[in-house]
Amino acid sequence: MIGKKIEEAFNKQLNAELSSAYIYLSMSAYFDSLNLGGMAKWMQMQAQEETDHAMKFFSNIQERGGRVVLDKIDSPKMEWSSPKDAFEDAYKHECKVSKLIHELVELASDENDHAAHAFLQWFVTEQVEEEDTVLTIVERFKMAGDFPGAIFMLDRELGMRAAGAH
Ligand code: FEO
Repeated sequence: MIGKKIEEAFNKQLNAELSSAYIYLSMSAYFDSLNLGGMAKWMQMQAQEETDHAMKFFSNIQERGGRVVLDKIDSPKMEWSSPKDAFEDAYKHECKVSKLIHELVELASDENDHAAHAFLQWFVTEQVEEEDTVLTIVERFKMAGDFPGAIFMLDRELGMRAAGAH
């Protein structure tokens, strides 16, 4: 049986994962408005991953006899000063999510909830990957500078992201 504190914290994280999906969908729409279809697709897939993360919390709360409570999702930002700026925001966002996951792990320890602790380990590993993937893209933008050819190449490359891949 899930404890009240973990149930509440997991519901909050479920909301945070859905908010992440919303943020990445907004970034996808921004890239589409710039005709950067590859980046738009990459962000759409990222949004799908976030929805998958949310569903992991959704199922876990229910499997442990808890009650899912869906809170409102804030409107995401819609414009960025450049494609690089959007990916930098995505990186900052992932660092924030990592912090949230680490706080959940600490709560699970404090509550002596071994099941929650075990469940969260997948997210701890996932966040290392997520941060690394986005930071690599930010670094690529830095290398590309303002050279349109390089941005075009990066757009093509990001558009080749396959389902389930980072
Ligand atoms: Fe669900 Fe990108 O963290």
